[in-house]
Amino acid sequence: MTTIQKLVIICSATLVILMGCSSDLAPLPTPTPVDVALQRLNQPTETTEPPSEAQQSDPAASGESSSATGGESSNLEAVFAGAGCIACHAVTEDAPPGVGPNMVGLVDFAAEIIESPDYTGKATTVEEYIHESIVDPLIFVVPDYQPVMPATYQDTLTEEQISQLVEYLLTFK
Ligand code: HEC
Repeated sequence: MTTIQKLVIICSATLVILMGCSSDLAPLPTPTPVDVALQRLNQPTETTEPPSEAQQSDPAASGESSSATGGESSNLEAVFAGAGCIACHAVTEDAPPGVGPNMVGLVDFAAEIIESPDYTGKATTVEEYIHESIVDPLIFVVPDYQPVMPATYQDTLTEEQISQLVEYLLTFK
């Protein structure tokens, strides 16, 4: 059934209901000029609120769209922070040691570790290593760290968010 057909059915059903109702009611008195004037007076006060609400929601809507079109790198940074990664991983060189490795130097570390006999994962490129570290953090646990990174990101993040995280972390040379 097309949308137009549905609309026609809904409209005719509403008409039937309305006609049924009015036939039960006593005939309405014809509005006197005073009634009409009162209705006109009431209308503006009733309709002042919706436009002001719409105006209030406007800045939020434009804020969202401006952040979506904002700088690509700050957008990726926001994904990293929004996913909670920042709680365990520092992204600046001078940060104090965290629960997880500092992301500075990640790309060089990854390039070395995938060649190392100690590496237990399946990645053959830096990009694959970062992706694997996010979706399957226990396949290889970075030496000197505890295996505490949540292994649930594959389920809780979208494929797009994971690619954005990989793209972001690839900038940490
Ligand atoms: C609860 C703390 C915690 C959170 C939250 C966390 N991680 Fe980790 N992460 C770790 C720890 C600890 C390690 C090192 C042990 C390991 O390899 O599992 C690690 C390892 C990594 C590695 C490999 C680092 C390296 O030097 O080889 C990457 C990449 C990574 N995490 C990315 C992320 C991303 C992206 C997120 C957010 C989606 C995240 N982590 C959230 C604790 C965390």
